[in-house]
Amino acid sequence: MSIEITSLLSSFKKELANCNSNNDLMKIKSNYLGKKGLLTELFSQMKNLELDEKKTKGALLNQTKISIESLLNAKSKELDSFNSTDNEIDISLPARGYTIGSHHPITITINEITNILNKYGFSISDGPEIEDDYYNFEALNIPKNHPARDMHDTFYINNEKLLRTHTSSVQIRSMLEQSPPLRIMTPGKVYRCDSDPTHSPMFHQIEGLSVEKNINFCHLKGFLTEFIKEFFDDKKIEIRFRPSYFPFTEPSAEIDIQFKNKWLEVLGCGMVHPNVLRNVKIDHKIFSGFAFGLGIERFAMLKYGISDLREFFENDLSFLSQFESIR
Ligand code: PHE
Repeated sequence: MSIEITSLLSSFKKELANCNSNNDLMKIKSNYLGKKGLLTELFSQMKNLELDEKKTKGALLNQTKISIESLLNAKSKELDSFNSTDNEIDISLPARGYTIGSHHPITITINEITNILNKYGFSISDGPEIEDDYYNFEALNIPKNHPARDMHDTFYINNEKLLRTHTSSVQIRSMLEQSPPLRIMTPGKVYRCDSDPTHSPMFHQIEGLSVEKNINFCHLKGFLTEFIKEFFDDKKIEIRFRPSYFPFTEPSAEIDIQFKNKWLEVLGCGMVHPNVLRNVKIDHKIFSGFAFGLGIERFAMLKYGISDLREFFENDLSFLSQFESIR
């Protein structure tokens, strides 16, 4: 009888697996548990058994009945949830539209600048945003208590660590890693404790550095003039080099461009200071170099006519979607 019970259970399971409707489920239920059902039949045969057998077979039958009932219950729930209107798919509904995102104007500007620099042989170098005082200042010829530190409004983390205030820190890291000749560019985030309509505590810079034999100020001037013309796609753009001061370059200059009849400062540059080359163990009698750094937001604002710096950080879709056509 126990073989009969196991084969009954397995045929029940097979039927249940093939059952797809509540109607069929009812049929299966009555087939096994109904008055004339197969399991009921086995129960009724119990009376012919010896006492011992009655006990074991009875327990087995009861167990089988319980599992059949719970399997029937589970199947009924499964059929209900499948048939419920919540999950019904209305194939007559039109498909949901989807929109393709666009690059952020900062990303677009970084790509445009790096594409130009790439053509001139600059390759991307990277450095940490949480930087050592040494790379951000000391090695760049800005020792502790140097007045130039005041220009930077630094976020200090502790005595040694800070949020880098410019991408010039990567100059040092790159010159320690690679020996000249080298040409690197460093796009990235920088931080200064400054916030108003034209300043943001986080903004983006890109640094360029070229260290080779016989590099002089004429190379810097010629190259940066070409770069600016190419970026703004304007061969006639008015550019001027204005003497300036950075502790890590000598001589130093700033580039202004003429924009709506006003001179606007766009970029800092200069010849790498011999002290900086000394700090990274490059012989300044053999090698020289030029470096420049520019603010990405400022370049993007001028090129795309954006008047408020805060637009970059508000993630307003109507602002961002204007850049969809530029990839
Ligand atoms: N690091 C300077 C700044 O943040 C820019 C700069 C870079 C100037 C390289 C000269 C050379 O203002």
